[in-house]
Amino acid sequence: MPSFPARRLLRSSLIDALVGPHGIDSYLELIRPALTVHDARASVQAVRRQTTRSVTLTLRPNAAFQGFRAGQFVRVGVEIDGVRRTRTYSPACSERAEFLELTVTAHPDGLVSRWLRERLAPGAIVHLSQASGSFALPDPRPERLALISGGSGITPVLSMLRTLCEEGFDGELAFVHYAQTRADWLYRLEVEAVAARHRGIRVAYVATREGDGHASPESLRQLIGDLDGATAMVCGPPSLIDGVSAFWPGGLRSETFTPPSLKLALAGERPTAGTIRFQRSGLTAAIASGSLLEQAEIAGLSPEFGCRMGICHTCTCRKTAGAVRDLRTGEVSDEEDEDIQLCVSVPVGDVALEI
Ligand SMILES: Cc1cc2nc3c(=O)[nH]c(=O)nc-3n(C[C@H](O)[C@H](O)[C@H](O)COP(=O)(O)OP(=O)(O)OC[C@H]3O[C@@H](n4cnc5c(N)ncnc54)[C@H](O)[C@@H]3O)c2cc1C
Ligand code: FES
Repeated sequence: MPSFPARRLLRSSLIDALVGPHGIDSYLELIRPALTVHDARASVQAVRRQTTRSVTLTLRPNAAFQGFRAGQFVRVGVEIDGVRRTRTYSPACSERAEFLELTVTAHPDGLVSRWLRERLAPGAIVHLSQASGSFALPDPRPERLALISGGSGITPVLSMLRTLCEEGFDGELAFVHYAQTRADWLYRLEVEAVAARHRGIRVAYVATREGDGHASPESLRQLIGDLDGATAMVCGPPSLIDGVSAFWPGGLRSETFTPPSLKLALAGERPTAGTIRFQRSGLTAAIASGSLLEQAEIAGLSPEFGCRMGICHTCTCRKTAGAVRDLRTGEVSDEEDEDIQLCVSVPVGDVALEI
């Protein structure tokens, strides 16, 4: 890796101007793919399969990666059959860790998650975005914190647990993880080892399809004690978040990985008359039902996407003309030359997009 002054020089706009239109990174990646100074990338150091459905990746980010706050996510790009695919993953490691740790649960018909589990090997290089997301450890830290997760949603709250323990958090901490079966439990030994090293941490693992039941005030009190005054950080499927939100007595922040009820919002939308012009590809399509992302895919295009629910901004695209409605807020925006998120936008009359 180049020294710090060398990296600063390589990052300068003068160097980019001197090397021509492709920028310094296109030359550096020929020497070594993770040597880039502007683009964040990571090399795969280790691949571990904790359960039959998951894979845990240890990644060494290059110097362009600026770190993350516990709970945030990064976008990971991999080339599959010659096409770059990007998905969103929340690191499970402490925010102070040298290596990034991602744990991906493979969906039965999922493209990227299955590829990561079955095909990614040590030595490979993956593309990274800088971290983003507002689901992060509150600052200042609350005195009592409950970290609650379901399924693959364990990653951001585990990052919070590890970060808090590393910084010597001396408040009360509870960690509860729900999975369908014991065989799906992620990180149980690690979490118990962390809890054994630190005072004031209660840990509970629950197998919902093996008789342990779902989250309720009584079961959580039994598992972790008094809930009053505790802040909950919850990550999991919408049913877990809705269930806990319904009775949680204190502050609660949540995140889900599952594309939520956008489908419901979409079902209520009646497509307007008009056309969508995909300017760069020269295609035009009559407006149909579905988000602009879905309509672009039906037209034969493959815009990049990550979450398909308005969180990660991977699908952001320039709208050069026309109006769109944001499915989350219902707001219509008709500004010319604005960036919109294709996955949560529907056209309102004729619209032109820069793809
Ligand atoms: C902020 C954020 C953080 C995330 N962090 C993690 C993480 O740490 N670990 C992890 O395993 N995943 C995480 N995800 C989910 C991840 O981004 C992908 O959605 C997931 O890996 C599936 O991608 P795929 O390409 O395999 O599926 P696709 O090929 O995109 O989809 C295949 C099918 O699976 C369905 N599907 C896609 N994603 C989900 C989902 N999450 N739940 C249920 N059905 C789904 C689709 O509707 C589709 O029918 C996160 C998502 C977000 C938004
Ligand atoms: S795909 Fe993540 S915001 Fe649209």
